[in-house]
Amino acid sequence: MTADTYWNHNVHYHPVVLDAVPDGCRAALDVGCGDGLLAASLAARADTVTGVDRSPEMVRLASKRQEGNLSFLAGDYRDGTLLDEGSYDFVSAVAVIHHAMEDPIMNWREVRRATAQVLPGRRYRRRLLWRYTLVWDKPA
Ligand SMILES: C[S@@+](CC[C@H](N)C(=O)[O-])C[C@H]1O[C@@H](n2cnc3c(N)ncnc32)[C@H](O)[C@@H]1O
Repeated sequence: MTADTYWNHNVHYHPVVLDAVPDGCRAALDVGCGDGLLAASLAARADTVTGVDRSPEMVRLASKRQEGNLSFLAGDYRDGTLLDEGSYDFVSAVAVIHHAMEDPIMNWREVRRATAQVLPGRRYRRRLLWRYTLVWDKPA
């Protein structure tokens, strides 16, 4: 298996993210991009893709990827100065948000309730392997 073809429980859900990319997507952001595997796939569907990860080692690995429309930033996505707020057409985060939660051990019902408040209209779906997906379209 090469670095581009490995599988794990996170990678299993990358197609869900790729399917959600809108037509004509200009700028995409992958939050907590890890080694950049998803960002590299997004590069085929968006004009430009930025990956951000707080692990310098992950960003070093990701930066070896060759896609010309792909770039990576090392830092915390919650740092208000790092990312260009409002400039992305599409934002993904796979297996990342729970790292920032005060109580990462929420049950599905709690996650459903909390995300409905934060992201009204979000589409929540329970998945296999103790996972869930959230898809939210920012109101026009
Ligand atoms: C479980 S890995 C998932 C990697 C990748 N999204 C995937 O699908 O394989 C979580 C990643 O999120 C990154 N991360 C966690 N909290 C972060 C934060 N506050 N800012 C940026 N990256 C963060 C970690 O460094 C790690 O690479």
